[in-house]
Amino acid sequence: MKTSVVVPVTLAALVLSGCGKNDDDNDGGETAGAAIGVAMPTKSSERWIADGANVKKELEGKGYKVKLVFGEDDPDQQVSQIENLITQGVKALVVAAIDNKSLNNVMQQAADSDVPVIAYDRLILGTANVDYYASFDNEKVGEMQGGYIADKLGLRDGSKKGPFNIELFAGSNDDNNTRYFFKGAMNVLQPYLDKKQLVVRSGQDKLNQITTLRWDGGTAQKRMEDILTSSYKSEKVDAVLSPYDGISIGIISALKSDAYGSQGKPWPVITGQDAELASVKSIIADQQKQTVYKDLRKLARVAAEMVDATLKGKKPPINDTKSYNNLVKVVPAYLLQPVSVDKANYEKVLVEGGWYSEDDLK
Ligand code: GAL
Repeated sequence: MKTSVVVPVTLAALVLSGCGKNDDDNDGGETAGAAIGVAMPTKSSERWIADGANVKKELEGKGYKVKLVFGEDDPDQQVSQIENLITQGVKALVVAAIDNKSLNNVMQQAADSDVPVIAYDRLILGTANVDYYASFDNEKVGEMQGGYIADKLGLRDGSKKGPFNIELFAGSNDDNNTRYFFKGAMNVLQPYLDKKQLVVRSGQDKLNQITTLRWDGGTAQKRMEDILTSSYKSEKVDAVLSPYDGISIGIISALKSDAYGSQGKPWPVITGQDAELASVKSIIADQQKQTVYKDLRKLARVAAEMVDATLKGKKPPINDTKSYNNLVKVVPAYLLQPVSVDKANYEKVLVEGGWYSEDDLK
């Protein structure tokens, strides 16, 4: 993974749109050298390591000092890390929540200390004390995953009628993105389920039956193994909706143990998200079929721009003021566009796009 190669992308329009009325060239002044706290959820997935590095680099490029912490997917640990950052006097916080509802008290502490908060990729729920949200169009991520399955099975263009067997996986139930990904996927898949062109043999098709705590691949593997044992005797799985590469890897392990990928048992259409290195290699090897790539360099740039504008009293980049209600208020957001990646376009998107080199993918 090219975490070290953080090629600046041209977001001129976005940056310009961040220049508000009181654009008084106050670049520096009291904000120069201020410390910003960045709280990422875990180092167990390479994307968050890249996020931490990218946000740090973007903020340092604007003259800030950065205090970067990673929770170990432990909500309590993240709360105390953020408390510490506030105590250390950070001037703003960028937070990718582990548990979207566990941060209310510490967000209140931030507000009491006049520390603005940018929710990074994952919205923080149930508090007025979150200022802006930087993320991707998460519903569209799900639509790309569901759409890929409908396309590859030949359902969307009507060339095949099915019925096909599908199993459904969702992300962590404490991550607000989970329901957006699922909703997006179901926007596409539900009509085929209704017409029985797609069949969930396990019967587990409700969000609360298919979530995967902390997005853990091992948990997904175990659930897939159980489903294969209980619901597939002579039948085979044709597609698996997976919301995230780490989950896809667990699903693939379970399928491999059940002889998928060998004669007579072709790999199902398996989706994913984040274009993590192992999954891109898996796509090249024809196991996982798709991932949804989100250019984290752009996300980091938006978050840093939000911090900078907020501290300088300028208008931050915002392109959505309706989609993300956090149960207390609609949080103004900047949503970037995801890209569906498979074997046909990974070179163009990921290699030519500077995310991976050819050597990384060998
Ligand atoms: C989500 C994020 C996904 C994926 C997942 C697991 O919040 O939007 O891109 O990274 O967490 O880490």
